[in-house]
Amino acid sequence: MKKYFLAEFIIFGLMFSFGVMASGGGSNFKALLSKVKEGLLPAKCLFLIVNNGDCGAVQIAKEYGVPCFHISSKTHPDEHEYEKALLKVFEENPIDLLLLAGYMKKIPDSLVEKLPERILNIHPSLLPKYGGKGFWGLNVHRGVLENQEKESGATVHLVSSEIDKGKILAQTSVPVLEGDSPEELAARVLKQEHSLYWNTVLNYAKTLGLL
Ligand code: GAR
Repeated sequence: MKKYFLAEFIIFGLMFSFGVMASGGGSNFKALLSKVKEGLLPAKCLFLIVNNGDCGAVQIAKEYGVPCFHISSKTHPDEHEYEKALLKVFEENPIDLLLLAGYMKKIPDSLVEKLPERILNIHPSLLPKYGGKGFWGLNVHRGVLENQEKESGATVHLVSSEIDKGKILAQTSVPVLEGDSPEELAARVLKQEHSLYWNTVLNYAKTLGLL
């Protein structure tokens, strides 16, 4: 069955393009690229943008031959120049979707306006819980544990001008176990993120008529 799906995409040339923005280890970025490589996500990743030149995602981009741009307040201390440099990448590399994969900086409104309903983010909680300013990385899981929640999870949502407030596209939940540390809970959630993200991207691309 899977083979026929892939054959259809190849015969009709149905494919979409995407860019990724990341700041950390890049495991979500890698999970997306591996699904592209396996032929399950009929897409091409045109670039990676990082705001931290030393992050793991940069190495993954090298492994998969994805062009990488480091754009941050270090490379562009002037806010206006920073935004201009970001927008230039999008103008020179037009994409269908922008996927945030552990990107820890707020996306400038100018970019959100340039790609309306085309920017997706993955967040390690069941939004609207544990989202918004301050809730990123391990802070999210610390909050969940402090409140003795019975479950947590991950959410894929559209990016709007308000942090973690855009339309929710999909969620998956995991149990919170007795004695969990923030790191243990983060690892359980992250494992689910890897399958949630590419499946949601695939469905959303179909909804938009890109596939
Ligand atoms: C992931 O858990 C992702 O959901 C989270 O950062 C981690 C990145 O891991 N994102 C946020 O907290 C954004 N608000 P990765 O670099 O291994 O993909």
